[in-house]
Amino acid sequence: MTGYDNLSTGRREFLAGALAHGAFRLVVGDLLDETALHAAMEGQDAVFHLAANADVRFGLEHPQRDLEQNTIGTFRVLEAMRARGVRRIAFSSTGSIYGEPTVFPTPETAPFPVQTSLYGASKLAGEALISAYCEGFGFEACIFRFVSVLGERYSHGHVFDFLRKIARDPTRIEVLGDGRQRKSYLYVHDCIDAMFAAWSRSSGGASVYNLGTDEFCTVDDSLGWICERLGVRPERAYTGGARGWVGDSPFIFLDTARIRALGWRPQLSIRESVLRTVDYLRAHPWVLERGAA
Ligand SMILES: NC(=O)c1ccc[n+]([C@@H]2O[C@H](COP(=O)([O-])OP(=O)(O)OC[C@H]3O[C@@H](n4cnc5c(N)ncnc54)[C@H](O)[C@@H]3O)[C@@H](O)[C@H]2O)c1
Repeated sequence: MTGYDNLSTGRREFLAGALAHGAFRLVVGDLLDETALHAAMEGQDAVFHLAANADVRFGLEHPQRDLEQNTIGTFRVLEAMRARGVRRIAFSSTGSIYGEPTVFPTPETAPFPVQTSLYGASKLAGEALISAYCEGFGFEACIFRFVSVLGERYSHGHVFDFLRKIARDPTRIEVLGDGRQRKSYLYVHDCIDAMFAAWSRSSGGASVYNLGTDEFCTVDDSLGWICERLGVRPERAYTGGARGWVGDSPFIFLDTARIRALGWRPQLSIRESVLRTVDYLRAHPWVLERGAA
């Protein structure tokens, strides 16, 4: 098994367990480096394409980044697969592709969504390319639209931001938006289990699955759990508005009936996932200090 990563936000330390395994090799390379990518693709049976610019919030500051890293990056992966005769792909898309949906919980068949972020747009374009490769070149794909993922090796997102802010000042915390944004989250091991549940039943063409829990919480709820765990009671200063930033969806709640029909169920609730993430970051302070590059 080959891991291909430019280590831009990934950490070699996260792969310590894999690297100790004789069957795993890490190639440090960029998706946009065709030569290196084609070489790494040689002899592979399938691809789990997770590499991306996973940051939703700062898309407008770097309009080209999502296009290059997510859409063109996905195109490069597909072309390397085609050149090397690899036909099976799993893809980490996102619930952000639904923009601000009108149907809740939001099913995979929701009306074609208006895009509200460059990240969502770039991922939806990646999905479209994959579907077209399935039609045109006989590829087989599992496309996963994740809600926000929590748990071990977490290096960006709201729990990360809140912990950093509390470490700086435990008496006062800035909350982006009005704190009433409703969000759904998924524990990382539940996410991986769901991916394999779908992968093992895949049977040609492109299949799309929402991955999430059947609950949601508010940003305020999550901050409350974090503070309780840390034993702090900071005064909350809201920046105001229904959205934390342009492109932030005030309500994310995905319909997961399709993946549940395969027998998959999440093991952790959102609250348990938030607390697990807090505990992980407290036990691994270097992750919190360095964060995503
Ligand atoms: N974390 C979430 O809440 C979430 C939610 C929805 C979708 N996703 C998607 O899941 C995937 C993993 O997300 P994550 O949160 O673990 O992000 P992450 O930033 O921790 O991981 C992305 C990985 O891709 C690598 N990478 C980035 N650009 C690359 C490039 N050009 N070439 C080679 N490697 C590159 C990074 O070094 C890193 O190891 C991403 O595709 C992301 O868009 C994540």
